[in-house]
Amino acid sequence: MINLADQFQAKISWQSSRALVAGRTYMLVADGHSVSFNVTAIKYREQDQTGEHLSAKKINANERGLINISTSEAINICDGAVFTVLDAQTSEFLGQGHIEFALHRSTNIRWQQLTIDKNARADLKQQQARCIWFTGLSGSGKSTIANLLEKRLFDKKLHTYLLDGDNVRHGLNRDLGFTEADRVENIRRVAEVARLMVDAGLIVLASFISPYSAERLMARKLFAPGEFVEVFVDTPLTECEKRDVKGLYAKARRGELRNFTGIDSAYETPAQPELHLMAGSASAEACVEQIIQYLGIANS
Ligand code: ADX
Repeated sequence: MINLADQFQAKISWQSSRALVAGRTYMLVADGHSVSFNVTAIKYREQDQTGEHLSAKKINANERGLINISTSEAINICDGAVFTVLDAQTSEFLGQGHIEFALHRSTNIRWQQLTIDKNARADLKQQQARCIWFTGLSGSGKSTIANLLEKRLFDKKLHTYLLDGDNVRHGLNRDLGFTEADRVENIRRVAEVARLMVDAGLIVLASFISPYSAERLMARKLFAPGEFVEVFVDTPLTECEKRDVKGLYAKARRGELRNFTGIDSAYETPAQPELHLMAGSASAEACVEQIIQYLGIANS
């Protein structure tokens, strides 16, 4: 059966040393057409020898599994169609799969057009809605800078909201830890929340380690051109560790805290952020000034 749909169940055979992770975005290539897709669920991965179905948040190299995917736009594809999976940033080959069937939900949900849109909401607030995305190591100064910036914007009578990693993890994301899969899901959820808030006409400040470039790209793609401002709060690991305000680096070094960013969990440095703050040497105030200048609201 040929489907025009944007959600499918698919069988996958993974071939990259970098595991497939639930919540991450990849590229699908079929019949010479390519479209990006998000892994919305891993139904199971197959046990190597026995083929037994195991619950999982990752599919490792040379493993097979059953997944649900959501494509960025509806595609015409038939049940059984074979596709290739590529890295969304580098186009590196990662694996292959075939479509089992389209999920009914994808053909039954339509986008509801609303009369009042983002621009109308932002105009009422006399501002340009944006997402200012802070990324950097724990202790790099993201929250301090975001907090100071929000105060400056507030004083200019702009309408803001600050989404902060530690705070969001007390509520919406309290079920998530710090494995790769959980961090991917953490960023996916907060990026969607930030998008809703930008749609509400707000200037959103998002402060998350957001260690993986794939998820920062995923977040960026949720926004219109120019709306997403990636701010790399670049404080060297040695300096973050010296500050160690929460005592977490010491814990991680003692082996009492696993998967700590910079110690035993990766931080992928942003390649082309809109702003690169040397927050190890510059003061938080100076960093905020740099952002204000970039946003073009210094004299507003
Ligand atoms: S992210 O990697 O998923 O973007 P997030 O910004 O939400 O992380 O949360 C980071 C905060 O959680 C840190 O500032 C720190 O206070 C706390 N934390 C607790 N455990 C860890 C860990 N293993 N790695 C990094 N931060 C941790």
